[in-house]
Amino acid sequence: MSKTISGFSKLSKSKKIDWIANTYFSNREHAKSIIKQYWNSNDKLQQLHDEFIENTITNYYLPLGVAPNFLINNTLYTIPMAIEESSVVAAASKAAKFWLDRGGFKTQVISTTKIGQVHFMHNGNVTELTNFFNAVKPKLLNAVKPISKNMEKRGGGILDIELRDKTNAIPNYYQLHVSFETVNAMGANFINSCLEQFAKTFKTEAETYTSFTTESKQIDIVMSILSNYVPDCLVRAEVSCKVEDLTENDDIPAEEFAKKFVQAVNIAEIEPYRAVTHNKGIMNGIDAVVLATGNDFRAIEAGVHAYAAKNGTYSSLSHAKIENDTFYFWMEIPLALGTVGGLTNLHPLVKLALEMLNNPSAQELMQIVAVAGLAQNFAALRSLTTTGIQQGHMKMHLMNILNQFEANTEEKTILTQQFKTQTVSHNAVLEALEKLRQ
Ligand code: MEV
Repeated sequence: MSKTISGFSKLSKSKKIDWIANTYFSNREHAKSIIKQYWNSNDKLQQLHDEFIENTITNYYLPLGVAPNFLINNTLYTIPMAIEESSVVAAASKAAKFWLDRGGFKTQVISTTKIGQVHFMHNGNVTELTNFFNAVKPKLLNAVKPISKNMEKRGGGILDIELRDKTNAIPNYYQLHVSFETVNAMGANFINSCLEQFAKTFKTEAETYTSFTTESKQIDIVMSILSNYVPDCLVRAEVSCKVEDLTENDDIPAEEFAKKFVQAVNIAEIEPYRAVTHNKGIMNGIDAVVLATGNDFRAIEAGVHAYAAKNGTYSSLSHAKIENDTFYFWMEIPLALGTVGGLTNLHPLVKLALEMLNNPSAQELMQIVAVAGLAQNFAALRSLTTTGIQQGHMKMHLMNILNQFEANTEEKTILTQQFKTQTVSHNAVLEALEKLRQ
């Protein structure tokens, strides 16, 4: 059976599944039954999911969990999280409860500007190009009016267009560097549509610009696209409390814990190997909420990691200090999020997640998401600097191991109880299960 095919996208869903089952699986019926097992029995809902992307064969489930008790600027939230990693929601809930008793999280949106660029080549003189840009700028803004009209009504639009000379890096390379306010929309479609119109108008105006010589009339557009690097779409989240209040039990003295915690953050600030894992822990919280609220987690990931390297070395996104007997822990991160458009008014679970968050504006969602990241980082560092990460991690992983060995409900109940006081490991669980089954 050939593994190449043309016209695949035009086949019906069932023909696509037949082709995949016949081409890649020895047990075709088994493969088909797994694919079909995840179809939704509600045809309309299934069709909605089928039409999100091309060549849909089935649905890929992730658990949607919730972390309650998040106090953010004196408002309580239960935060929805879509994620597969077993300990993340538990850690978020624990951190939320911990800070609930200590005044909660404080947040602030610092800025909301997004960026898009038209990349082009021009082999003329830079002064002539600058003169042309200044002359044509009002026409550029005018040309996108039909696209920007609605956005302007909502309080957004184009903030500025700059001509940037990049010829030092690549001969003849320039940019139209455009800043946008997209209010409650993530704005990718709006930004890209504006940029493509700018590119078109810029090129055609150059052809009739009388001050250009014949050779220098040429504007070669390379591409027009938004940037997912959004260092000016920034939100801050923080927690603080008296050092003496920083412990829940007597396992570790508060001063010692505070000191170790700050040391752990300092290490992530100067050591990229640690910083990447430290920030990955932050993204555990962030991605889960971004996904649950129908936002683009790849865009968020790319922008956040670029921001973590903005000073030339990859570093910790979060920071901590002890000052005047007070412990401070905070983070500033770029988050270009939307609460309208995209999946937000399409996916029933996304709508549910947003309603659970009291239908936030994009700015409110930025604050909630940043808090989820900071809480996750707090929980990870608390475990790492005290009990070690594996204790909590493996406890949460216990159910995965039990499921892997197809434990029944009774076995699960007995072993969950048993492993409350015993270290969880793959082997230990297998041994205990075998013993139980004998
Ligand atoms: C695991 O998903 C995340 C952690 O590794 C984060 C960290 O090390 O800070 C626990």
